[in-house]
Amino acid sequence: NAVEQLAGQVEGMSLDAIAQTYPNAHPEANPLDVWRAHLSNVLSKISGVDTSIIFPVIAWTQSLDKGDFIIPVPALRIKGEKPDALAVEWASKWPEDDPLFKKPVPTKTFLSFFIKGAPAVKTIIKAVREQGTEYGKAPFDGLKDPKDPSGARKRIIVEFSSPNVAKPFHAGHLRSTIIGGFLANLYEAAGWDVIRINYLGDWGKQYGLLALAFQLYGNEEELKRDPIDHLFKLYVRINAEMSTEKEAIEAQKKEGKDTTELEANSLDERARGYFKKMVDGDEAALAQWRHFRDLSIVKYKETYARLNIRFDEYSGESQVTEEDMAENAQIMADKGVTENDNGAVLIDFTKQVPGKEGKQLGKAVLRKRDGTALYLTRDVSELLGRFHKYAYDKMLYVVASQQELHLKQLFKITELIGHKDISQRCQHISFGMVQGMSTRKGTVKFLNDILRDVGEHMHEVMKRNEEKYSQIEDPVKVADILGISSVMVQDMTGKRINNYTFNMDAMTSFEGDTGPYLQYAHSRLCSIKRRAKLSDEEINSADLSLLTEEHAVNVARYLAQWPDVFQNTLKTLEPTTVLTYLFRMTHGVSSSYDHLQVVGSELEVMKARMALYDAARIVLYNGMTLLGLTPVER
Ligand code: ARG
Repeated sequence: NAVEQLAGQVEGMSLDAIAQTYPNAHPEANPLDVWRAHLSNVLSKISGVDTSIIFPVIAWTQSLDKGDFIIPVPALRIKGEKPDALAVEWASKWPEDDPLFKKPVPTKTFLSFFIKGAPAVKTIIKAVREQGTEYGKAPFDGLKDPKDPSGARKRIIVEFSSPNVAKPFHAGHLRSTIIGGFLANLYEAAGWDVIRINYLGDWGKQYGLLALAFQLYGNEEELKRDPIDHLFKLYVRINAEMSTEKEAIEAQKKEGKDTTELEANSLDERARGYFKKMVDGDEAALAQWRHFRDLSIVKYKETYARLNIRFDEYSGESQVTEEDMAENAQIMADKGVTENDNGAVLIDFTKQVPGKEGKQLGKAVLRKRDGTALYLTRDVSELLGRFHKYAYDKMLYVVASQQELHLKQLFKITELIGHKDISQRCQHISFGMVQGMSTRKGTVKFLNDILRDVGEHMHEVMKRNEEKYSQIEDPVKVADILGISSVMVQDMTGKRINNYTFNMDAMTSFEGDTGPYLQYAHSRLCSIKRRAKLSDEEINSADLSLLTEEHAVNVARYLAQWPDVFQNTLKTLEPTTVLTYLFRMTHGVSSSYDHLQVVGSELEVMKARMALYDAARIVLYNGMTLLGLTPVER
C-alpha cells in the first residue's frame, strides 16, 4: 500500500520498525507517523537527543503557513544551551536532500517543519483512496491489548438524548441527542464496543396522572396515530384541571368548609393511587403504562432515524426496580453513607467528604418521607446495574450543565459505597444552553417540530436559486437533510459548554461555516466527479507527480491531517474539533478550484486532479458522517 511504499523509499524505515519504536504510532492508519518517525531520526542525529524524546513532542500547527509540525525546542530538555540558538543551529544542519522535509524554519525557540510536496501528494492521495471510509479511523484505540488486534475491545456506554415521555423535548434533549450521537460514532470509529442507551424520564407520580388522564379523556385511535402529541395534550389538560381543582379546594378551605372528601377524590389523590398501583406491580396499571411507553418509543425511533441515530437500549427511570433500590439503600445505610431524617433518607456530603468538595456537593434526598425513591436513587441503581450487565470500561452521561451537581453527587455516592473503580469509569459530558429556540409557530415542543420547521425554511432558501433548484430530483427530501444539517452544525460549532442562540437564518445560510456550506462543498466534489466521467481505474492510474501546484500540495497536506484530528477529538471529545478542521479543509479545497480545473484539462492532468478531489471528497464524507450528517450528492 501507499504508506508502505513511502517508508520503503526512506532509508532505514519500515512500518514495523516505526510501530515497534513508538508505541503510539500507527503509520498504516496515520501516514503522518512516517513523517514524524523520519523527523525524529534526522533530528536525533543532528541534536543527539533520543528519538523517544523527540517523537512525542512533535506538535501540529494551527495553519499550514506555520508548517506541518512544530517542535518547541525547550521540550527536548537540553541543559545549559539556549533553545533559540539550538533552533538556528539544528535548522542549518538539516540535510538539503532530505526526502521528506524542507529545511526547518526556526522562530525563537520553535522549529517549524514543512513537508515536501511530491511524496506527500503521492502517499496521501493514494492512502485516502485505498482506505476510503476507513481513512482516519483509529480501530486500535479500543483494543484492550493494543498489540492484539484480534483480541477483546474496550466497551463504552454512551447515555444520551433521554427525553421525558409526555413532556416537551427541549433544547437540552436536542443537544444531548446531537452531541451524544456524535460521541457514540467517534468511539465506534475508534474501535470501541459502543452501547447507546436512552434513559427515558418515564416514572413518577406524574405518570400516574397521565394514565388517569387517558382513562378520563384518552382516545386509542389518536394515541396510535401520534402518541407523543396525544400524551402531551392529555398531560397538559389534566395538569390544568388539577390546578383548577386545587384552587377550588383552597377557596373552600378559606371559607372554613370541610374539604376532606373533596381532597380524597381529587385528581391528585387519584393519580397518587394510580401510581402506587404501578409501584406495587399491578399488572393492569403497568400494562397501560408500558403501552404508552412502547408507542412513544416507536415514534422516537422514527425521529432519531432522521438524525442517523439508533439506540441499543431504551432504559429509563421506570426500568429501575424497587428491589434493586432497596438493596442499594441497605448498603448505603450499612456503610453509614446515608442518614434518616424524620423518615426521609438523605445523604449529607459535608459530613462524608472533607473540605470544599463536600460543601459543594451539599445535601441530597434519596427517599422521601412517603417512601418514594427519587431521581438520584434511581441513577445510583442504574449505574451499578449497567456495570453488572455490561462491565463497561467507560460510561458517558451526555446531560446539560444544569445537572452537573446531580451527576457529581451520583459519582460520589458510587465511590462512597465502595465502587471507586466504577465511578472512575463514568464521565459527565456537559453542555450549555440554547437560547431562543422558537419557530414561527411558537416555542418548539418536539424534535419533529424543530426538524420540520428548519426543513421548510431550508426549502424556501433553496427555491431562491431557481436554476440549481430545478436540478434536484427530490427537493423536499434534500431540504429536510439540509435542515437537519443546519441544526446539527450550529449546535456543534462552538465548544460544548458555551451557550448559543438558535438562529434560523444564520444556520440555513450557504455562506459562512454552516451545515449547508459543508453540504454544498460535498456536493460540489461529487459533481466534479460526475462531470469528469472518469472510471475509478482511470483515476487509480493517475500520475500524481503532475500535481506540483502549491494548491494541490496544500490540499494533500490538509487531508494528511485528518487522522491526527480524529485522535485529537478523542482527547477533546468536542465536535468542534472535527468541524473546525472540516471548514479549514473545505476552504482550502474551494480556493484551489480556480487553479486546478478538472474538466477542460488535458487527460493526464485531469486524472491526477480528479484523484486529488476524490480524496478530498472521501475525507469530507468521513468527517461529516462521523458528526452524524448525511452528505448529499446534489
Ligand atoms: N430525563 C432527564 C431530563 O430530562 C435526563 C436524564 C439524564 N440522565 C441521567 N442518568 N440522569 O432531565
